[in-house]
Amino acid sequence: MKILLLGMDGQVGWELQRSLAPLGHLLALNARSQEYCGDLSNLPGLAETVRRYAPDVIVNAAAYTAVDKAETDREQAFKVNAEAVEVLARAATECGALLVHYSTDYVFPGAGSEAWREDDAVGPLNAYGESKLAGERAIQASGCAHLIFRTCWVYAARGNNFARTMLRLAGERDSLGVIDDQFGAPTGAELIADVSAHAITATLRDPSLAGVYHLAAAGETTWCGYARFVLAQASALGVPLKVAAYQVNPLTTDAYPTPAKRPANSRLNTNKLQKAFAQTLPDWRLGVARMLTEINEK
Ligand SMILES: NC(=O)c1ccc[n+]([C@@H]2O[C@H](COP(=O)([O-])OP(=O)(O)OC[C@H]3O[C@@H](n4cnc5c(N)ncnc54)[C@H](OP(=O)(O)O)[C@@H]3O)[C@@H](O)[C@H]2O)c1
Repeated sequence: MKILLLGMDGQVGWELQRSLAPLGHLLALNARSQEYCGDLSNLPGLAETVRRYAPDVIVNAAAYTAVDKAETDREQAFKVNAEAVEVLARAATECGALLVHYSTDYVFPGAGSEAWREDDAVGPLNAYGESKLAGERAIQASGCAHLIFRTCWVYAARGNNFARTMLRLAGERDSLGVIDDQFGAPTGAELIADVSAHAITATLRDPSLAGVYHLAAAGETTWCGYARFVLAQASALGVPLKVAAYQVNPLTTDAYPTPAKRPANSRLNTNKLQKAFAQTLPDWRLGVARMLTEINEK
């Protein structure tokens, strides 16, 4: 089986390199790849890559993920998150490949306190969310076999992430304020990659499993709760910090204005995925604690 992975260096892409490797022959690309074009802003190059490699499965982990920048850089956000995805979907239809794609809870309007279900009404609050929704719609309109995983609050041991930023700030500053009125579940790139590999295998065996799924760790917290957990764990691991977990001040979203509006409710209901693929999604604290141990090992 031939698998084409786009966005190999991102948080999820990096973990997919590991989890997809046992499934078949993996061609993993980034925007700078030479032999095959892996640049999602080069639409003809992207189509040519699929035509030439003729994969059985295309996994698209590449995305324009700069949420605030997307407000003033709509054209590039839509090119990568929507137009390129449409090209991939058309190419997947032509070569009969299964297209696996990642989307976000930002397609929802963020109101209420119920966890979003796959068929809830969408209504993005910002340009990034609009571009991701346009990507989803392009896939669905193309008629290609697909798995779309909407996830939220992604972190990984590698690269920059919220946990690392909190650790750095708590080591430098005397006080820390973090938003406490946005709810979601920190979700590890490892978990997303492992569940994706399992779902791909299951969907290749049973094509009726194709569709849109919510994929997030279990449980919920706020950014402030997340920060406090990170600092408490780090402190227990012996990391020197100037701000203790209990000293993190809760902020309201209004007190921390950003160019892009963020949803207050990023909760995702994952029942459909757990049932369809017989997966149990672990509590968010398990993965975050593991990641902290990993990044603090000398
Ligand atoms: N991060 C989150 O909290 C979050 C939440 C919900 C959903 N998601 C979705 O989950 C998926 C994976 O996200 P992630 O957290 O792994 O994102 P990430 O770490 O930002 O990775 C995205 C990757 O896409 C690459 N990329 C950007 N523009 C590209 C282009 N024109 N051509 C090729 N590659 C390009 C980036 O490369 P460069 O770094 O070189 O630009 C980066 O390696 C995305 O679909 C994202 O929308 C993420």
